[in-house]
Amino acid sequence: MVRYSKPPTIAQFGASSPIELSRAASLVIPYVNGVDLNCGCPQTWACAANLGAALMENRELVRDMLVETRGVMQRDGWVRDKESSRGRSLSVKIRIHKDLRKTVDFINTVIGDLQEPLVDFITIHPRTRRTPSNIPIDTDALRFLASEFGHKIPLILSGDVFTLSSIPIPTLEKHADDDVPTPAGTGIRGVMSARAILMNPALYAGHDTCSWKVVASFMRNVVASPLPLRLVHHHLGEMCGPGPGENKAALLDKRERTALLKQMTMLDVIDFLDRTVDGKLGKTGGLSRIR
Ligand SMILES: Cc1cc2nc3c(=O)[nH]c(=O)nc-3n(C[C@H](O)[C@H](O)[C@H](O)COP(=O)(O)O)c2cc1C
Repeated sequence: MVRYSKPPTIAQFGASSPIELSRAASLVIPYVNGVDLNCGCPQTWACAANLGAALMENRELVRDMLVETRGVMQRDGWVRDKESSRGRSLSVKIRIHKDLRKTVDFINTVIGDLQEPLVDFITIHPRTRRTPSNIPIDTDALRFLASEFGHKIPLILSGDVFTLSSIPIPTLEKHADDDVPTPAGTGIRGVMSARAILMNPALYAGHDTCSWKVVASFMRNVVASPLPLRLVHHHLGEMCGPGPGENKAALLDKRERTALLKQMTMLDVIDFLDRTVDGKLGKTGGLSRIR
């Protein structure tokens, strides 16, 4: 029997109303490890509704949403202690401003009182609302924000994390008054990956490219908890294409990926993968033999 461990899960909301965020948080919080507020989505529809990155221009509203949500979490008996079975986090994910002073004001506002911060951690995506994702993240801004806040609140980096061996974290001087250790003196406590983890779900296990073992594990999950075929095609296309890091090796070439997308039932997808893997590896038994 395959056993799946249960990693921590954070539910993220797009919201622009204190009462709506706190009620949504109250409903979901028994089933997750924390609640996050999205202040980073740059999509036009989201910003038009005062959601996502639009909130970077409205720090008072963000503070009000966090105050209300923190209050409801406390009222319902959830605590910050992550060792406790009632331990839950409250966090925000942000972008930066062109004028970093505005980002400093924003972060100070969402932290609030340092003794009793409103948030437990902040995820920084060091691009402005208008910076396209093919432009590298702003490591100077990250370095500055990490030196300003890394010793006050845990910071997570989101952006351009393509492999664990090429994390774009700038090195910082360690603060003399910093009694909270930060890994390698970076001021950053963790990293988040979006595009690369789609291409290589084994990224956090230290692998720089996706392998057939990972595809086999994905397909076992798909069989156990079925996904719509459209999503299976999408994920397999990402995993079997060129890798996210410098190594651009692909499990399937473009012609093979096109053929994969033409498989119109799950059984056809599985047969296709079995045939292709056997052909490539010179074995029999298909994908299910790979563990
Ligand atoms: C398919 C996809 C979905 C995303 N969905 C969210 C989301 O729901 N909330 C969020 O805060 N960011 C979301 N992002 C943005 C990422 O979290 C991240 O900030 C951005 O993609 C840059 O990181 P990367 O270089 O690791 O992709 C998404 C990105 C991608 C590619």
